[in-house]
Amino acid sequence: MSSKICLTGIKPTGMPHLGNYMGAIKPAIDTANKGEFKGYYFIADYHSLITIHDGNQLRSDIREVAAAWLASGLDPKKVVLYKQSDIPEILELNWILNCFTAKGLMNRAHAYKASVQSNTEAGRDEDQGVNLGLFTYPILMAADILHINSDIVPVGEDQLQHIEIARDIASSFNHSYKKDFFNLPKAIIADGENKLLPGLDGRKMSKSYNNHIPLLLPEKKLQKTINKIVTDSTGPEEAKDPNDSLIFDMYKFFSSKEEQNELAKRFRDGIGWGHAKAELFNVVNREVAPIRAEYEKLLADPGYIDSVLKDGADSVREISSRKLLEIKKIIGVSS
Ligand code: TRP
Repeated sequence: MSSKICLTGIKPTGMPHLGNYMGAIKPAIDTANKGEFKGYYFIADYHSLITIHDGNQLRSDIREVAAAWLASGLDPKKVVLYKQSDIPEILELNWILNCFTAKGLMNRAHAYKASVQSNTEAGRDEDQGVNLGLFTYPILMAADILHINSDIVPVGEDQLQHIEIARDIASSFNHSYKKDFFNLPKAIIADGENKLLPGLDGRKMSKSYNNHIPLLLPEKKLQKTINKIVTDSTGPEEAKDPNDSLIFDMYKFFSSKEEQNELAKRFRDGIGWGHAKAELFNVVNREVAPIRAEYEKLLADPGYIDSVLKDGADSVREISSRKLLEIKKIIGVSS
């Protein structure tokens, strides 16, 4: 019996930040390394095409995100890493699934609704700037998931609705042909409670809040960025409450219990914010230094990244082409 499939998509939108690393990249790699599931991780480049209309930019975003995952410890021998656009079967399935998706389901998708709302609030036509790729985004995502019948899909909380939609579409297909053909995929929330690394201003770390720390900064820049964390005006000798400190909150993500107890004591004894930030820098840098080194090596050898992605695509297509043929028989376009 083949083992269960764990699949996730990575949107190439430039360098990931530390929050992506702690909340998504690291847990996904840990899951793959445990070996309970067969891992299929792919770069969702056609999803990025919805917003990135600059060929050179998309090309470099794809390489960077692949390099960041590989440098973070993704082992292509354990996980199949591929590019969505290399799998034509996904796009064929995408069309087929279009025909099993109620338009109303798309009208209710959060991302589309948010665009309409911001247009309406600004007094613009409600569909201004909305391309059909954005509108049907969840259907392509369903095709990503269903073309190899994934069992579990680790995603951030913001993607939950998309997984629900994939289940709806799969059910609609199954119901039409009275078969349990597609698995109903299960979302696994990777960045659930207490796992969300806060950003420089204490809100969830996010590029759109501009409070993020890019995963791979040169040391000096990393130090500078950490120094931007907002602190209050308590003097260097005054006692500080570690449980009421953003620096300490972030420190916890990168340190052992022992280190945390030690730093907590220094907080209570009085520590200057500059020193607290230096401690945070040390543990963050300890985590990212090996990734940084590997990342640079990988980017200097794009041929290697391309070959990993190509091998991944070859191995996925073996599964997806078989699956697609079964689907074509079921729907009646193939005999
Ligand atoms: N939409 C996801 C995101 O923005 C990326 C993605 C595309 C994905 N296809 C997927 C995630 C399929 C899980 C499964 O993060």
